[in-house]
Amino acid sequence: MMAMPNTLSVLALFALFFVLSNNGAEASHKIYPRFQTLSVENVNQVHRTGYHFQPPRNWINDPNAPMYYKGLYHLFYQYNPKGAVWGNIVWAHSVSKDLINWESLEPALYPSKWFDNYGCWSGSATVLPNGEPVIFYTGIAEKNNSQIQNYAVPANLSDPYLREWVKPDDNPIVNPDVSVNGSAFRDPTTAWWADGHWRILIGSRRNHVGVAYLYRSRDLKKWAKTKHPLHSVQGTGMWECPDFFPVLSFGENGLDPSVNGQNVKHALKVSLDLTRYEYYTLGTYDNKKEKYFPDEGLVDGWGGLRLDYGNFYASKTFFDPSTNRRILWGWANESDSVQQDTNKGWAGILLIPRKVWLDPSGKQLLQWPVVELEKLRGHNVQLSNQKLNQGDHVQVKGITVAQADVDVTFSFPSLDKAEPFDPKWAKLDALDVCAQKGSKDPGGVGPFGLLTLASENLEEFTPVFFKVFKAVDKHKVLLCSDARSSSLGEGLYKPSFAGFVDVDLTDKKLSLRSLIDHSVVESFGAGGRTAITSRVYPTIAVFEKALLYVFNNGSETITVENLNAWSMNLPVMNVPVKNRGRENPRNE
Ligand code: FRU
Repeated sequence: MMAMPNTLSVLALFALFFVLSNNGAEASHKIYPRFQTLSVENVNQVHRTGYHFQPPRNWINDPNAPMYYKGLYHLFYQYNPKGAVWGNIVWAHSVSKDLINWESLEPALYPSKWFDNYGCWSGSATVLPNGEPVIFYTGIAEKNNSQIQNYAVPANLSDPYLREWVKPDDNPIVNPDVSVNGSAFRDPTTAWWADGHWRILIGSRRNHVGVAYLYRSRDLKKWAKTKHPLHSVQGTGMWECPDFFPVLSFGENGLDPSVNGQNVKHALKVSLDLTRYEYYTLGTYDNKKEKYFPDEGLVDGWGGLRLDYGNFYASKTFFDPSTNRRILWGWANESDSVQQDTNKGWAGILLIPRKVWLDPSGKQLLQWPVVELEKLRGHNVQLSNQKLNQGDHVQVKGITVAQADVDVTFSFPSLDKAEPFDPKWAKLDALDVCAQKGSKDPGGVGPFGLLTLASENLEEFTPVFFKVFKAVDKHKVLLCSDARSSSLGEGLYKPSFAGFVDVDLTDKKLSLRSLIDHSVVESFGAGGRTAITSRVYPTIAVFEKALLYVFNNGSETITVENLNAWSMNLPVMNVPVKNRGRENPRNE
């Protein structure tokens, strides 16, 4: 079975299979008992990423409880220490000074008490005003097989590595009451403070209604559910990993989770278990009414705004007080088969952490890879003022394309040749429009962009490209990251991921940044207005055989105003804290 489903109808069918039981508790991950405890000694390196975070072997899913503490970034993640499929979940733990180089520690949380004996599932960190961190997480309890919320605190606050965590005996702190579906009740958020109370959200569903329950507490231990959920939406199914945070209405600074008031909007993101996509809305949080009101005109449900229009799930943000940023982490599952994951001995990566802030229009969030990533940039090549006529593809030579960072600005003399936007497409997902048009279909303004991870004779390539359409009142810009021709390999899920880019075209320019890393292409259109991540598994276009081109198949001439591409160096990764000084294991 593929790691991600393909079309909506297939999705519904798959959803049935995804909602499987884990000792009676509803889990969204498919369970393969045969593979759960089958660690591989020789991990297959071909498609492992160089600078994206991944553990040395085995399965990883959600990023958990990211936080900054005493000079270190802490990252926890859902991890199966025994196999390359979901199961045996513990909270693995890594620390970093710069969000890019990571040292590993022992797992921070693992099943050990009656209230989490059957699993330590996702959760979040809250750094209290006195600087002390606390973790809220979902435990799967042996006793009643339901999902309950627990807390854990550091054993030693003077240890910046926060190696050891204590789960006090007054756990659990939140039990599902009779009105709550106890087998779909998980993933507590970071707590925020307002009007004398701490608050957290817990994701859930009531039949088909997706729900974010709101709980309040004065002391972080006794929690009471508010009369109404903070928010709920009919037909969206289980809300996993809710994330609720304030954003400033101007500038790029992030905010502490408890800030509200003038010049502040809130974002609510949920991960839809039914579709395995996320969406978010922007709106207003009223802490008197204990309600969140999404802004009018925004789609609140399937079809809403996404942080990433590709393979990106269970994401979580945190506020970094050391740089005043809000930082977003997302997980990308594999798009190969479970058997292939088991053979290669690993599955899942985390995407590059992204700074996230509000677009000045107030209508969407913007994102950009954290600036620290640029430290890994090595050899650089440039192109400028390169004309691309219809059918041209020009190779960008001189870097290791399989592990690269590419930043390019395209321009076009006019929009006159833009193809009309067929009103029928308005009802389609952008992915389907991309599937119909593709990178080869000759157009007017576009398709133009990058051919990443391309083999010499183009048997394999992953195009990331723009196409501009003329709609009734304005232009519509489509960004595609099309995996359909990415690999000659078999048994792969190869979607034509795409999203529309809400961008002003008066300067007749479009920019694109793509982070290419062996089996992932993570792209940001128009300065981070639309992000798309694809997982791909080239068979020929690997290591030094992977090539990069700029291309144009539209009738309007495109100019590459400026292109910068860098080979990316390897960060320190998975080096145990006690073994400082060792290189990235890939180098060994
Ligand atoms: C999301 C999720 C969470 C759950 C965790 C279990 O991927 O299903 O809802 O807490 O993974 O690993």
